[in-house]
Amino acid sequence: MAASTSLSKIPVCQPFLNGRELEYVRDAVDSTWISSQGKYLERFEREFPAYVGLKHGTCTCNGTTALHVALRAAGIGPGDEVILPSFTMIATAFAICYCGATPVLLDANPDDWNLDVSTLEAAVSPKTKAILVVHIYGHPTDMDPVLEFASRHNLFVIEDAAEAIGSEYKGRLCGSFGRISCFSFFANKNITCGEGGMALTNDDLLYDRLRYLKNLSFPLGKSREYVHEEIGYNYRM
Ligand SMILES: Cc1ncc(COP(=O)(O)O)c(C=O)c1O
Repeated sequence: MAASTSLSKIPVCQPFLNGRELEYVRDAVDSTWISSQGKYLERFEREFPAYVGLKHGTCTCNGTTALHVALRAAGIGPGDEVILPSFTMIATAFAICYCGATPVLLDANPDDWNLDVSTLEAAVSPKTKAILVVHIYGHPTDMDPVLEFASRHNLFVIEDAAEAIGSEYKGRLCGSFGRISCFSFFANKNITCGEGGMALTNDDLLYDRLRYLKNLSFPLGKSREYVHEEIGYNYRM
């Protein structure tokens, strides 16, 4: 083990860009597909959910916006409460605030620094609509009791798996447990595109809601393209 003096010099992240990144960027530029559409995005939206073990994924411009559209797609709004662990990156709580809902912070478990599942019962109220689980530093949250609790109280489970690309819980990848899961591809994440995010789900209707909301509520069919029936966001990658 390194001495504490050298430990203090370990960077939080150092992007590891020594593969074919430049070749792909050149190829994208040559193709003129340089924003929010094109073969690389389609491939990523197909292959990343398949890797996690889910059917659908829609890219966003970062992990924070993936969380925001996930909460909106879950129907979270003013007056609702969403349970989350107190030890996380601020984006998890902000995304709840963007919906006008109230974040209800639970203590972290001293063993893995994730949500302490033994405190869930005391935190639930008639206003509680969802649990936003975070797998902090890649450590999986103990999902079995969370899912059991959520089904008993009829709560929507969203996973913030921003820091947990490739982490497993009982043989399944993090991000495959919630009704929606969110990832970040910021430069210090296990996979990066500089800035980026993705919201994943197995549910066809939720998938439609996610890609509708993240694309300024443009109708999903092409027939009446400039008709916007609710407020959406430009969160395209
Ligand atoms: C746990 C967690 N949630 C959300 C985010 C937000 O992701 P982004 O920075 O891509 O908006 C991050 C990281 O950056 C994170 O670590």
